[in-house]
Amino acid sequence: MKNLLKINGIDKAFPGVQALKNACLNVYAGRVMALMGENGAGKSTLMKILTGIYQRDAGTITYLDQAVDFANPKASQQAGISIIHQELNILGNLSIAENIFLGREFTHPWGGIDWRKMFAESDRLLARLGVRHSSRMPANRLSIGERQMVEIAKALSFESQVIIMDEPTDALTDTETEALFSVIAELKAEGRGIVYISHRLQEIFQICDDVTVLRDGQFIGEQTVANLTEDRLIEMMVGRKLEDQYPHIEPLGNELRLTVKNVSGSGVQGVSFSLNKGEILGVSGLMGAGRTELMKVLYGALPRESGEVWLDGVKIENRSPQDGLQNGIVYISEDRKGDGLILGMSVKENMSLTALAYLSQWGKINHAKEQMTVVDFIDLFNIKTPSFNKIIGELSGGNQQKVAIAKGLMTRPNVLILDEPTRGVDVGAKKEIYQLINKFKAEGLSIILVSSDMPEVLGMSDRILVMREGRVSGEFTRQEATQERLLAAAIGKSV
Ligand SMILES: Nc1ncnc2c1ncn2[C@@H]1O[C@H](COP(=O)(O)OP(=O)(O)OP(=O)(O)O)[C@@H](O)[C@H]1O
Ligand SMILES: [Mg+2]
Repeated sequence: MKNLLKINGIDKAFPGVQALKNACLNVYAGRVMALMGENGAGKSTLMKILTGIYQRDAGTITYLDQAVDFANPKASQQAGISIIHQELNILGNLSIAENIFLGREFTHPWGGIDWRKMFAESDRLLARLGVRHSSRMPANRLSIGERQMVEIAKALSFESQVIIMDEPTDALTDTETEALFSVIAELKAEGRGIVYISHRLQEIFQICDDVTVLRDGQFIGEQTVANLTEDRLIEMMVGRKLEDQYPHIEPLGNELRLTVKNVSGSGVQGVSFSLNKGEILGVSGLMGAGRTELMKVLYGALPRESGEVWLDGVKIENRSPQDGLQNGIVYISEDRKGDGLILGMSVKENMSLTALAYLSQWGKINHAKEQMTVVDFIDLFNIKTPSFNKIIGELSGGNQQKVAIAKGLMTRPNVLILDEPTRGVDVGAKKEIYQLINKFKAEGLSIILVSSDMPEVLGMSDRILVMREGRVSGEFTRQEATQERLLAAAIGKSV
C-alpha cells in the first residue's frame, strides 16, 4: 500500500480542552480511510490541522514523503489536499459556479472572467455528481443536500491527491449518496486517497477499506475494514461494549393527546393520525416525502389549508410557531445549523431562547432560574462543554444536537417533534439521546420521531407512520413493522 500521507503524534489544545493527544492517521493511495470516533473525539480538528486551518502543538505530517506544515488552507489545497467541511460554506447570493470557483475564477488571457468556461466546467462537475441544475442558478435555491453536493463539486474541482470528506452524507438523499459513492469509487480507481468521516456504520462497511479510530483525541488503532465487525468497531470508539442500542420502553397507556384530522396544506395532503400520552410515533419515508412539511404545518411554521388538529380535547389553530409553542408543541429542526441553533451564541443563550416565557416573571427574565435550569439540563443531557458560556459553534456535533433537544424540552412541551434527532450523532450519544427521550416519555411526553434511520425508527417507536408524496401511505404497530414493510410503503409498493 502506498502511503500518501502520514500524520503522527498530533497534539492540540483549545482553551479548556485537550482536543488531540497523540493523534495519528495514514492515507493510502487508491483506498478510503474511515476516521471514526465519538462526537468531540477530535476528527474535524485533526483534519483542520492537516489542512492548515489550525496550527498543531506537536506532531509531524509527512505528505508524499516530505515533512509538511501548511500555513493556511490555500497552501494545503495547492499541495493537493482538499476538504469537504462538516459545516457548509455556501454563499447563497452567488451562483453555483461562483461558489465552486470562488477566488480562482478562470480568466481570459486579456483579463476579465471567462464565464463560459467557468459555467461549463461547473456543469461538468455537477453532472458527474448527478445534480440536475444549471451552475448559473443562485445557490440559495438549493436544498441542504444540494448545497452539500456543491461543496463536493468544489473539492473535486481541485483535482487533489487527498480528499477529506467530513460527514458528507449528513444531508444527502439516498440518490445523492449513491452518486457520491460512485464518484468515490472513481477517485479510488484513479489512485487518490480519501479520508471519510461518518457516524453511519453502514456506510463505513460499504465504502471504506481501512478504519482509524480516535477516542478523546487519542489514536486507538488502525484496522482494515475486512477484519472488523460492527460490534468491535463500536467497542473501539466507545471503549466498552454497547449493548441494546435501542432501549425501547412500553408506552404509558392509551390516553389520547393529539388528533390530526384530514390536514392539508404546504405539500401535505389529507393526513390523519393520533398520538397518545407517553407514546413515540415514528414517521418514516423517503426524503422529500413531506414529513418535515407536515411537522411544520402542525406546529405552525407552514400554513394549513384545511383539516383539524385537536390537543387534549381542544381544537387548536397554530398559525405561527409561537402559537405552536404556546400550545405545547415543540419542533426540533433537522437543520440544526440553519434554523435550530444560533452558532455564534453561547450554550446558555441557545438553550433558554425558546424557553424565555417559562423563565420569565412579570416580563423580566429570572436569571437565577435561567442559570439553574440550564445547568440542570447540561447535567441531565451529559453535554460536554467546559462552561455554559461556551460558544455553541465550538461544540462537537453530537453535543450541539443535545443542546437543540434540551432547548425544546426546557419549554415543558406536551408534544415534542424531533426531526432527524440523531443525524451526525455518534453511537454513544445516540443511545444517551434515546434514554433521555424515554425518560420524558415515561413522564407522559408525547413524541413524534421523524427519521430516515430505519433501525432507529423501528427500535424506538411504538407505532410508525409512513409518508409518501405528502400523504400517509402506511401505518404499522411496533409488532407489525419491518424494514421491508416500511420501505414498501415509502416507495408505494404493497408487500
Ligand atoms: N475552535 C475551537 N475552539 C475551542 N474548542 C474547540 C474548537 N474546535 C473544536 N473544539 C473542541 O475540540 C474537541 C474536538 O472537537 P471536534 O470538532 O474535532 O470533534 P469531532 O470528532 O469532529 O466531533 P463530531 O463527530 O461531533 O463532529 C471538542 O471538545 C470541541 O469542543
Ligand atoms: Mg466533526
